Amino acid sequence: MNDLAPLLTPEGRALLDAVRGTAPADELAVATRLRREHPAELVSAALGQARLRQRAAAKFGAADAERMFFTPNGVEQSTRGSVATYRAERFRALGVRSVADLCCGIGGDAIALARAGIRVLAVDRDPLTVAVARANAEALGLAGLVEVREADVTGVETAGYDAVFVDPARRGGRGRVFDPEAYSPPLSWAVEAARSAPRAALKVAPGIPHEAVPVDAEAEWISDGGDVKEAVLWFGTGAGAVRATLLPGPRTLLGRGLPDPQVRPVGRYLYEPDGAVIRAHLVAEVAEQLDGGLVDATIAYVTSDELRPTPYASAYEITDRLPFNVKKLKALLREREVGILTVKKRGSAVEPEELRKKVKPQGPNSATVFLTRVAGSPTMLLGHPA
Ligand SMILES: C[S@@+](CC[C@H](N)C(=O)[O-])C[C@H]1O[C@@H](n2cnc3c(N)ncnc32)[C@H](O)[C@@H]1O
Repeated sequence: MNDLAPLLTPEGRALLDAVRGTAPADELAVATRLRREHPAELVSAALGQARLRQRAAAKFGAADAERMFFTPNGVEQSTRGSVATYRAERFRALGVRSVADLCCGIGGDAIALARAGIRVLAVDRDPLTVAVARANAEALGLAGLVEVREADVTGVETAGYDAVFVDPARRGGRGRVFDPEAYSPPLSWAVEAARSAPRAALKVAPGIPHEAVPVDAEAEWISDGGDVKEAVLWFGTGAGAVRATLLPGPRTLLGRGLPDPQVRPVGRYLYEPDGAVIRAHLVAEVAEQLDGGLVDATIAYVTSDELRPTPYASAYEITDRLPFNVKKLKALLREREVGILTVKKRGSAVEPEELRKKVKPQGPNSATVFLTRVAGSPTMLLGHPA
């Protein structure tokens, strides 16, 4: 589909209703039937849109996704609803009433901002994407708060807005772009735009090296359901601050600049920090809460004799420790009648699937094995969630 307009006509909307939820296996039959009464092109556009809506449901929830419009790139690049909502709430808590959303895409962030009661100028240079963003604001009843504009963001005047938000395009021809200067627009441009506004947030890839974070920015890593989704550079909130935020929640851990935790012998419990904590380099802050230390200076597993509830790490009770040896592990699993084996690894090149094939777990019990290094030596730690 390269034109949204036909789908927004009464005939287009009726077709969208007719194809809602069509399973891939039924598409051909549905298309054949509908083509008897509607132009073939419109039927395939509606079916294409239905497919995109199904894909988008994971990000936006089915209720919103079924009313929204998408492009293939737009679904892919949009911020998931939970993360966009969290960010919009944070803007609101900072007293922000209006945001220039530069690089709005299909409007994932603009929608969340408007729902937080914030007035939004949403800008994108791609004409179809702009049409989709506009249709989305309308479909969700937010058109009164969202002005969508087709323009290159580098020419947009943002004076008069309380904050600027930039979510640059990060995909090049060959998958993900990791060099922030290869973002469109480049990160250096976004940083200057951020500095010229009272407050700003820039969405960046979670793999951004800490050295690349501007000294006047706060860096926040965000995970949802344990998966790291993005990093955000905030301006006007606290230069040099670092935080890890876990969704749902939100639960936010603030960096205190603690030195790396001490290495200590493996205790009764092993804690696996959330990915956002690890990316934010806040393992020391979690270790301190747990009265724990590291199993190895280079490995982000925390060990402690205390079982303390924390949202920032998953706790496992360790029952066995053995040097890396597949035969010994196999024998131990036999003895324990472990049939369900979860393999976790940090600092090991072994493929979990390969290992599972080799040890052939059998039996009614379950266990978790950690393949890691303990004080420099390849080690297996066996345990279960505490
Ligand atoms: C990652 S997407 C934005 C996703 C959006 N935040 C969302 O949640 O739906 C980046 C967008 O930036 C747009 N873009 C890239 N460079 C641009 C520029 N110089 N001016 C305007 N838009 C630009 C692309 O067209 C793309 O739609």
